[in-house]
Amino acid sequence: MATDLTAEVLSALATAEAPIFSQDAFPSHPPEVIKATLDRLGSREMVEYEKLDTEEVHLTPEGEGIAENGSHEARVFEAVRSALEGLKIKDLPTIVGAEAAKVGQGTAFKLKWIEKDKDVLKAAKDSITDTVRDQLQTIRSTKSYADTKVIVELRKRKLISLHKVSTYKISRGPKYSNQFVKEETDLTADMLASGAWKTVKLKPYNFKAKGAPTPSGALHPLNKVRHEFRQIFFEMGFEEMPTNRYVETGFWNFDALFVPQQHPARDLQDTFYISDPPRADPPREDPPSSSSTDTTLPSTSNPTDSKTPSRSLDYRKYWDDVRAVHQDGKYGSIGYRYPWSEDESLKLVLRTHTTAISTWMLHKLAQDPRPARYFSIDRVFRNETVDQTHLAEFHQVEGVIADFGLTLGGLIGFMEVFFKKMGIVNLRFKPAYNPYTEPSLEIFSWHEGLKKWVEIGNSGMFRPEMLLPMGLLEDLRVYGWGLSLERPTMIKYGVNNIRALLGHKVDLNFIESNPAVRLEKA
Ligand code: PHE
Repeated sequence: MATDLTAEVLSALATAEAPIFSQDAFPSHPPEVIKATLDRLGSREMVEYEKLDTEEVHLTPEGEGIAENGSHEARVFEAVRSALEGLKIKDLPTIVGAEAAKVGQGTAFKLKWIEKDKDVLKAAKDSITDTVRDQLQTIRSTKSYADTKVIVELRKRKLISLHKVSTYKISRGPKYSNQFVKEETDLTADMLASGAWKTVKLKPYNFKAKGAPTPSGALHPLNKVRHEFRQIFFEMGFEEMPTNRYVETGFWNFDALFVPQQHPARDLQDTFYISDPPRADPPREDPPSSSSTDTTLPSTSNPTDSKTPSRSLDYRKYWDDVRAVHQDGKYGSIGYRYPWSEDESLKLVLRTHTTAISTWMLHKLAQDPRPARYFSIDRVFRNETVDQTHLAEFHQVEGVIADFGLTLGGLIGFMEVFFKKMGIVNLRFKPAYNPYTEPSLEIFSWHEGLKKWVEIGNSGMFRPEMLLPMGLLEDLRVYGWGLSLERPTMIKYGVNNIRALLGHKVDLNFIESNPAVRLEKA
């Protein structure tokens, strides 16, 4: 059991006249315990203390030997003196040892204690004083020596070593008492009732104490980067699209975008299909938003939901026109020329891109055609083989601009401004293919870390085959682009494995302790 140092200190001070020194009074307690005890007593002004750093001089094993048996030179002198007829040099080591014979002989000559006659040593004095031994004996008992020159000399000869020691000089404080009274931290009803409040010792408030960290929620890095992107979109006059639906029909995810029904993206290997319910209704007018069975998007968050749409869409005609443009061609397009299947279009899928939402928004826009800017950032699903950089789901950042007289040059120029706002400059554009855009451009940027051009997005001008069946005006052009939210997030937070960012393997501590993201906005 640990001895109570608090009581020990108080009782030691009860009898002591002069200050006490921790090193002498409590040698068995570790310094950190002494420090904590003194801090505690000091904060109540029961003791006063001062830390003293001192140096102790200790003898080395060689120094111990000399303190015990005398210095080498003294032992040489002794051996020579007691050999009355003188001592042959070659006999010295057998008497005093090789080490003492070698070192001690030279010093004894220098001190003129002995002299040489051919190969015989003789004493030059009757007696000598072994100063070094005396000094070492003093040091051994006092752990110090007044003359620093001696300390320097003995240290050079490796007979002593110096050690730092900390000790506390402790004396009574103004509120000293030989008892440590427990301080109350709360004034209780009992104390008031019994009158004890008059005499209890109340602990003073410690206004410097740090509070315990309050457990709270933390934003996921993807959410933080998403916030930055949203700000950029809002700055540029975009409205957010309502993306709160993961399940889409084949119609909104593919057919309305002029993606042919044989397109590999629609394969089971690429797209997740819903088995129950097996099929959806054809597209139709939204039910009134007050309806409790409303499965469409809330009208309050739908910026195009004007109370009096200038035109209302004939969904039957829209459906037929989408079929026609795929199957037979229309609007000057020869179409894909295959038998278009309603069933394929009514299959339910986990949306593979947020462009399904953009398409839905554009068909709404067609009811009141005008320039518009929409964006969304939400989750999409693709049947990918999961690895370090791919999951079967990710988040898409998508933007759409509808306006009269838009050009491809305008799209390129806009992309440069948009990406510059997140610190990405020096874009390159490469012709690409999407069934729903023409021309299409992949966007590349130079990655300093990887030292190569990396694809950062996909974009294009939406095709008339997609826009005209909706009833959008022929000269209202629309372009769009998409990128993943994960890629910039992984780069910003230095995450190499996507599974560390999203999914059941995410370390919550990583989420909680991450700083806010800063895009180097140019
Ligand atoms: N849907 C595209 C994708 O998933 C992105 C895109 C959106 C491309 C709009 C062009 C226009 O990569």
